[in-house]
Amino acid sequence: AQKKAHKIAVIAGDGIGIEVVPEGLRALEAAARRFDIELEFEHFEFGSCDYYLEHGKMLPDDWFEILSGFDAIFYGAVGWPDKVPDHISLWGSLLQFRRHFDQYINLRPCRLMPGIKSPLADREPGDIDFYVVRENTEGEYSSIGGKIFEGTERETVMQETVMTRTGVDRVLKYAFELAQSRPRRKLTSATKSNGISITMPYWDERVKAMAKGYPDVSVDQFHIDILTANFVLHPDWFDVVVASNLFGDILSDLGPACTGTIGVAPSANINPEGEFPSLFEPVHGSAPDIAGKGIANPIGQIWCGAMMLEHLGFKEAGDAMVSAIEKVLASDDKSALTPDLKGKGTTQSLGEKIAAAIG
Ligand code: NAI
Ligand code: MG
Repeated sequence: AQKKAHKIAVIAGDGIGIEVVPEGLRALEAAARRFDIELEFEHFEFGSCDYYLEHGKMLPDDWFEILSGFDAIFYGAVGWPDKVPDHISLWGSLLQFRRHFDQYINLRPCRLMPGIKSPLADREPGDIDFYVVRENTEGEYSSIGGKIFEGTERETVMQETVMTRTGVDRVLKYAFELAQSRPRRKLTSATKSNGISITMPYWDERVKAMAKGYPDVSVDQFHIDILTANFVLHPDWFDVVVASNLFGDILSDLGPACTGTIGVAPSANINPEGEFPSLFEPVHGSAPDIAGKGIANPIGQIWCGAMMLEHLGFKEAGDAMVSAIEKVLASDDKSALTPDLKGKGTTQSLGEKIAAAIG
């Protein structure tokens, strides 16, 4: 039988995106060789500020048709505020993908890696290892609302939260299944039903209903205020944390921040049914302050590659990539590490070392 080639659209974007993406690809190619996976990469210039300066838009008009044919999108970073305002570059690219490709899951692993010092005192690898699952399409980030009596004493603004049963249930289902696939089988729901008295009790109700289908998953819930405190005080309590769009936005920055450098954190925007391509991008941006120096940490991008392989059905290959990252970080030889990891190496030296460890 002929093997199916998985088509990956590669968009490096701006700044250090251009430097870390090749290292992500190097690691992916190493994993593809070892696990006999056929990956086919196609590179695109659009989705970058230089493309915008040339074409007056971030994406070509037929971007949806072009990218729909791919199995996944491997993105670096977008944004260069000196050339193009951030709201234009982000809204014109990433946010279009999230919306039109119905990437309703934003997934971020929060895992303390060996050799990285957590900003939380006395935490070691193993203490922090959980996922934040954020609802990515509705909730608090609706555009329903308005402004009246502008410029007068009666000036009034309103913006509504939208929760649909379909929208809430599908993110919960994803989170429960993720929890079920992990050894601890634990799910934590972020709520605020003591203060937000309509939508959040509804969210809690749907969590209870969904939990019935997953009797082997233990479930708890915290109000968002104490939950943020517990991320810092007791990160070891968590396994899979599911949250609405706004709460998830906050938790998905706080979680990775508890695990050290921004250079290693990955994220995925997922359309679980595979009707549209999912998008994999590091948490960090284009880092204009270090761009062009060849010192950006490529681990966030490489870890994204691992998440992408897992999404495409190659969990073993994804796990091997993460193990290779851990092995390199744990090694006594720090020479290849980038300066943010207190090393003297470069983006490329660290990328090559990880690719070699993948084998
Ligand atoms: P940033 O994440 O680009 O940089 C923040 C700080 O972290 C900088 O000091 C940078 O040098 C450092 N840093 C980031 N990634 C690193 C890496 N891989 N290795 C070592 N150090 C690293 O965030 P910032 O400066 O707020 O934004 C810069 C641009 O990136 C803006 O245009 C912003 O809109 C865009 N951005 C894009 C994102 C995306 O593509 N999803 C996400 C965040 C920001
Ligand atoms: Mg955020």
